[in-house]
Amino acid sequence: MKVDVFDTTLRDGEQTPGVSLTVEEKVEIAKQLARLNVDVIEAGFPVASPGEFEAVRRIAETVTGPVIAALARAVEGDIRKAGEALSNAERSRIHTFIATSPVHMKYKLRKSPEEVKKLAVKAVELASQLADEVEFSAEDATRSDPDFLVEVYEAVIDAGATVINVPDTVGYTTPEEFYGLIKHLKKNLSLRGVKISVHCHDDLGLAVANSLSAVRAGAEQVEVTVNGIGERAGNAALEEVVVALDTRRDFYKAETGINLSEIARTSRLVAHLTGIEVPPNKAVVGANAFAHESGIHQDGVLKERTTYEIIDPKRLGFSGSRIVLGKHSGRHAFREKLRELGYELSEEELDRAFARFKEIADRKKSLTELDIEALLYELEEPTYRVEMVHVTATKGLSTAAVKVLDGGERVEVSHSFNGPVDALFSAINRVLGIDARLVEYRVSSVGSGRDALGEVLVRVEKDGKVLVGRGLSTDILEASAQAYLNAVTR
Ligand code: KIV
Ligand code: ZN
Repeated sequence: MKVDVFDTTLRDGEQTPGVSLTVEEKVEIAKQLARLNVDVIEAGFPVASPGEFEAVRRIAETVTGPVIAALARAVEGDIRKAGEALSNAERSRIHTFIATSPVHMKYKLRKSPEEVKKLAVKAVELASQLADEVEFSAEDATRSDPDFLVEVYEAVIDAGATVINVPDTVGYTTPEEFYGLIKHLKKNLSLRGVKISVHCHDDLGLAVANSLSAVRAGAEQVEVTVNGIGERAGNAALEEVVVALDTRRDFYKAETGINLSEIARTSRLVAHLTGIEVPPNKAVVGANAFAHESGIHQDGVLKERTTYEIIDPKRLGFSGSRIVLGKHSGRHAFREKLRELGYELSEEELDRAFARFKEIADRKKSLTELDIEALLYELEEPTYRVEMVHVTATKGLSTAAVKVLDGGERVEVSHSFNGPVDALFSAINRVLGIDARLVEYRVSSVGSGRDALGEVLVRVEKDGKVLVGRGLSTDILEASAQAYLNAVTR
C-alpha cells in the first residue's frame, strides 16, 4: 500500500512558539520538501496575514511536483483567500476544517452538531469550485462521537471532499484506540476512492505511534512535520514515520515515495531556518542517533554494522564531511557540485552563491558538502552588511568597534564589562540608533576543525517583537555581528 506524505512544517510546524519564517525562507523549505518528494506541501494559512498569503502564493507559483495545500476554516472568506493564493499551483488543495468534538462545538464554536455539519458541507462545496482537491478535517476528531464523525465525513464526501483527515488535535488518543477509530470509519463510510488521512499531535509522546497504528488500520495519508516541530509538543515527525515504515516494511506492508537520502539535509535546513535545534537523542536525525558509545556496541558495529544499527545512516544522507571544493575551484566546478547535491540555482542566485563561496574559500582552504549547504542557507542579500569587527578584551573590560555598510559606511565603538559579545551588540545598537535586547545567543560549528565555519543564531527583542537572525563565518565575532544585524533589520 502507498501512503501519501502530507508535510505541514510550513503551517502547523510554523505554529511552534518562537518560530517565524520569512517568505523567502518558506520558499526555500518548500523547494527542499519537493526534493524530498513529499506528496503534499501545506504551505500556510492564507487568511492569517498578508505574509502568509504571499508565502502560499509564491510556493504555489514556484514549487512543482507536490500538491500545494492551503488551510482555511469552514468560512467563506478563508476559503476564497486560500483559493486565490493557490490559483497558480500546478495542483492545488484547499484544506478546510471545523471542530466536531462536544467541548469545541459547545464552548468554542457555540454551535449545534447539525449547524457544524451544515457549515462543513457548505465549506467543501465552495472549496471544490476553487481547487483541484479538497481535504476536510474534523478538528478534535479523537474526542468526537465516532458516529457523529461518520455522519459529517459522509456528508462532506457527498459534497466533493477528496481526502478526509482525522486529527488528534490535542494528542489525546492512543495507538490501540486510534486503530479502532480508523477501522470504524473505514467500515462505516462509503469512501468511493476518498482517502483517509491522519494528523497526530505529540502531547503524550504518541504522535508517531498513533500515525503508524492508523496506517496499519488502512489510513492512506499521514500528516507530519520535519523534526516533529509544531504547536505545543509538536506533530508526528516526518522522518520517524517514514523511516519506521521503511525499516519495518515487513510489518506495515506500506511504503512512501520519500527520497530517503534527502532526510538529513531537510532536517538540517528546517532546524537552521526555524532555530529549533534537534535534540541529540532524537530518533533518526539526532546527533547521537547513530553514535555508539559502549565498547561492546562499537566492537559489534565494527564486526557487522547491523548488530546494533537498524538504519543505515548513509541511506538517509548522513555524510557530508567529505572535502569537495577548494579555493581554486572555479564557477563551473561549483555549479556542477551544486547540481550533484540537487540544487538548481538561477544565474543570479549562482552569482551570489559563488561570491560567498569565494569569500569563505579564501579563509578556509577546503569546503565540505556541509559548508556548501550552510552557505546556501544565507543567500539572501542582507539589508546591512558588517564590513569590519574589531574586539579587544582586557581585564574584564571589552571594547568593540564595528563598521556597517548600509549604502554608506557607519562606524561605532562600545565598551562593556559583560564581555565582547555585549560590547559588539551595543556598538551595533549605536550604529542603528536603536534599543534592542538580546534574548538568545547560540554558536555552533559546521563540521569540525579549527577553521570550521561558525554559525550563529540570535533572538533579539525590538519594539516588543522577538526577531531571529543568523550569521555564518569562520570568525564567530563577525558571524555574531551579522546575525544581530540581520535580526534587528528584519
Ligand atoms: O491539529 C489540528 O487539528 C489541525 C487541523 C487544522 C488539521 O492542525
Ligand atoms: Zn495540528
